[in-house]
Amino acid sequence: MANVVSQYESKPPPFGHEMRKCFSFDPEYINMNHGSYGSLPSPVAEAIKPYYALAEANPDLFHRFTSIDLIRDVRKRMAKFIGAAHTEEVVFVPNASHGLNTILRSFIWEEGDIISSCNTTYNSISRTAEYISDIPPHPEVVQFTLLFPTSHSEIIQNWRAYVRSLNEMRDQSAQKLGRRPKIVAIIDSIISVPGALLPWKEMVKICKEEDVWSVVDGAHSIGQELDLNLAEANPDFWVTNCHKWMYAKRGCALLYVPKRNQHIIKASFPTSHAYKKGGGSNFVEQFEWNGTIDFVPYISASCALDFRAWLGGEHVINDYCHRIALEGGKRLAQILGTEIIDQDQDFQFTLSMVNVAVPFPPTMSSAFEIDMAFRRKLLIKRKIYPAFFYHNGKWWIRCSAQIWSQVEDFEVLGQAILEASKEILEEFGDGTEKKTMGIEDKVEKVN
Ligand SMILES: Cc1ncc(COP(=O)(O)O)c(C=O)c1O
Repeated sequence: MANVVSQYESKPPPFGHEMRKCFSFDPEYINMNHGSYGSLPSPVAEAIKPYYALAEANPDLFHRFTSIDLIRDVRKRMAKFIGAAHTEEVVFVPNASHGLNTILRSFIWEEGDIISSCNTTYNSISRTAEYISDIPPHPEVVQFTLLFPTSHSEIIQNWRAYVRSLNEMRDQSAQKLGRRPKIVAIIDSIISVPGALLPWKEMVKICKEEDVWSVVDGAHSIGQELDLNLAEANPDFWVTNCHKWMYAKRGCALLYVPKRNQHIIKASFPTSHAYKKGGGSNFVEQFEWNGTIDFVPYISASCALDFRAWLGGEHVINDYCHRIALEGGKRLAQILGTEIIDQDQDFQFTLSMVNVAVPFPPTMSSAFEIDMAFRRKLLIKRKIYPAFFYHNGKWWIRCSAQIWSQVEDFEVLGQAILEASKEILEEFGDGTEKKTMGIEDKVEKVN
């Protein structure tokens, strides 16, 4: 790897607004939505420059030798970081959508099979399940319902009952079909909206007990969820975005497939020249080159870990973000006169994202225009932006706390939301009379 040590000889700035020095934000913009696209630290941007230079100095040498060797080293580091039993169980893909599509489209679907998603599954991922169900042999999509406020123990209890009910459905089909269909469950580790940690390890365990495949969407996990140990959690498949909470350059994601399940992923997507090469399983080789892309984001994962070590490491970073999420979320709820989505005082759903209710009347429309209005009124007009979503009869704000955040940012946001929500009520009404332009109940999730 390039020598980036000199960047890290001095002490890092303290967390809070001074840390903005390490990012390239518009000085007028308050970024409270790190969760959607991540934010590239300037030292990481600096550390990857030599790799871009190498790629252009000799494109053949870089793509045929240098980048392959570099990415092998990075994969080794990442495999250790996530607690995979073997480096060969971890490959890079451009983003979580890519990884999850690779998994879901790799199963050989048969009549009677079941794909389980959830009402809170990231929209494009539940659409992936829907698409697979729309084409022959039409596996059935079944949905687990998660309604906040709730608690981890309630979710686990409901999940167990739900998975057992899927198994009963399967038994009935098995009698008709003369074979046992498969069940594949998509489980979020941290939901997109609400931004909430799920008891995913327990959910995976229940899947194991009930002979159900577990596909874990961990898009928000790496860099936010501490002490990942995939060998212990033992999901059947797991995907995470390094460009969100881990500070890698977009697009950089990890696809984890334990050796026992690599036979399911017969071909990378797109198909690699290494498909079927050598006869045996060559999972890693297929993902090493399956179409020309910018490979530097994959290398940037290692640079991001260097940056995070300089900051003090995973616990130091996440302890700060978690504290600001909780303090900031409570302050925001106080300003708005509303509440945080966590029901229990141990705030088991909140890591670095906190969800606070918008002060709208309960009659308020769920129309997509409301979300669009918030985007215009906050992102464009007021230069501050969290994410907005409609859940269980209410509009919510998902705030991401980061190393540059301070509770004061939540106070600025509070004032902006009070103004914007008042304007929205004036423009769209409170839902008791129809003022919106249509697409009721269609709130797109792009978080
Ligand atoms: C839970 C979840 N899954 C999947 C994705 C898709 O990530 P990407 O757009 O990087 O593919 C996101 C994006 O925010 C997400 O929040």
